Amino acid sequence: MNKHWGGRFTKAATGEVEDFTASIFFDCLLVKEDILGSLAHVQMLGHVGILSINEAEEIRQGLLQVLELFSQGKISLSSADEDIHMKVETELKLLIGPLAGKLHTARSRNDQVALDLHLYLRSKVVAIVALLNELNQALLIQAKQNCHVIMPGYTHMQRAQPILFAHHLLAYVSMFEQDIERLQDSYPRINQLPLGACALAGTGFPIDRQMVADLLKFDGLYENSMDAVSDRDFCVEFLANAALIMTHLSRLSEEIVLWCSQEFAFIELDDAYCTGSSIMPQKKNPDVPELVRGKTGRVYGSLIATLTMLKGLPLAYNKDMQEDKEALFDAVHTIEASLSVYKGLIATLHVCKDKMLQAAQEGFLNATELADYLTSKGLPFREAHAVSGKIVRHCLDHHLKLEDLSLQQLQSFSPLFSQDITEVLDLKNIIHTRKSQGGTSLLQVENQFCLATSALEKTAQWLSEKQKLLHEVKI
Ligand code: ARG
Repeated sequence: MNKHWGGRFTKAATGEVEDFTASIFFDCLLVKEDILGSLAHVQMLGHVGILSINEAEEIRQGLLQVLELFSQGKISLSSADEDIHMKVETELKLLIGPLAGKLHTARSRNDQVALDLHLYLRSKVVAIVALLNELNQALLIQAKQNCHVIMPGYTHMQRAQPILFAHHLLAYVSMFEQDIERLQDSYPRINQLPLGACALAGTGFPIDRQMVADLLKFDGLYENSMDAVSDRDFCVEFLANAALIMTHLSRLSEEIVLWCSQEFAFIELDDAYCTGSSIMPQKKNPDVPELVRGKTGRVYGSLIATLTMLKGLPLAYNKDMQEDKEALFDAVHTIEASLSVYKGLIATLHVCKDKMLQAAQEGFLNATELADYLTSKGLPFREAHAVSGKIVRHCLDHHLKLEDLSLQQLQSFSPLFSQDITEVLDLKNIIHTRKSQGGTSLLQVENQFCLATSALEKTAQWLSEKQKLLHEVKI
C-alpha cells in the first residue's frame, strides 16, 4: 500500500474508485497556491521549533524545486496521485527523501485545501475587478464619443421616450460599478486564513497561526477550527457575485444582438468580433454576445451546485466538498473570458447614429412631452394624458407625426396649446429638459461621466494596493 495514508488498509482501492475519487486533474490548477501555503507553513514550523531550521530550509528548497518542475511541465499526473496536495508531497519525497513527511506536521489536507482555495480566489477577485474596470473604461469611452447621439428608450420593447445613447451605456457602467463594489466588499471575508485548523479540532503542536497569516498577507484568521475547514461560504458569495455579473453581461449581450440586427441597425460590430456562416455568404453573426448570454447558465449552475453541495453537510469536512473546485474554476474561467473579450467588443463597435435618431423620430416618443405641456398649463395630468392619447390616435389614423399638426389642429383638442408647443416636441429639447438628478439630459449625463471617472480611479487605487500586497507574498 503505497498511499501516504495507507497504513491501516489491507488492500488498495480499485482503479475505478481511484479514478472516481481523484481530484488531481482539476485541482492541479492550485499547484502554486498549494506550494505557497506549504512554504509559509514550513517556515512557521521552523520558527517555533517544531522542525529544526535546517529541516525547514531543506523542505523549502525541495518545495521550490517541485514548483519549478511543475512550471516546466515536467510532472505527469495520474489518478493514483489522488490530489495536488498528495502529489506535491510525493514529488517532494522523490527529491529530499523521508524528511518530506515532516511537512504535514500540524496540518491536514482539510485546512490545506481550504487555504489553497482562499489564496486562489483572492487573486482571482483582484483579476476580475481589474477586468470589470477595464470594461467600464471601454463603455465610458464609447459613451463620451457618442454623447450627443439620440436613441429611443424602450419599455416592453416598445419605443417609449428619447434618451441619449450615452445614458443607456452608463446604466451598464453603473451595474458593473456595483459588481466591483460587491467583489471588493467580499474580499476581506475571502482573505482569512484557515490553516492551523488541521483536520477539524486544531492541534497540540505549538503552532503560530498569526505568523502564517502575516506571511501570506491575510487580513485575519478563522477563530473556529470547525468553521475554518467546513466553510465554503466565501465560494458561494463569489459565485453569487459572479452570477450577477453574468446577468449584467447577458442583458447587455441581448441588447447588442438586437442592435446589430438589420431590424434595428443601431450599431455595427467590428468584423474581428463576429463570425460568418458556413452556408449563407452574407451572414455576419454576433457570436461573442450570444455566447456570453449562453454561458450565463453555467455560472448560475456553479452557484446552485455549490449551494446544494453544502446544504446537507454536517460539520466538518466531507468529501462532497471536493465538488467545490470544478464549479468555482469554471465560473472564474467563464467570467474572465467573457469580460476580457467584451472590453474589445465594446471598444471597437461602431454606432450608427442616424439610424438611432431616425428610430427615435418615429413612434411618438414625444407624446409624454405633449401631456407634460398641457399639465404645465394647468390641466390635471390624467386629463392631459387622455387628450394627448386622442391626438396620438388622430395621428395614427392619418399617418402623421405629432410635429406635423398645425397649432389650430392641436387647439381643436385643447385650447391650452400655443405657439411654444413646436419646440417642446423637438427631441433635442425633450432630452435637454430631463435635468432631474440621474436623468438623460446632457448635463446629467456629463455628471455621470464625472462620477464614473472617479469610480474608475478609486477602483484603480484599490487594485494597485491589492496587487502590491499580493506581489509581496514571496516566501
Ligand atoms: N482533494 C480533497 C478536496 O478537494 C482534499 C481534501 C481531502 N481531505 C480528506 N480528508 N480526504 O476536497
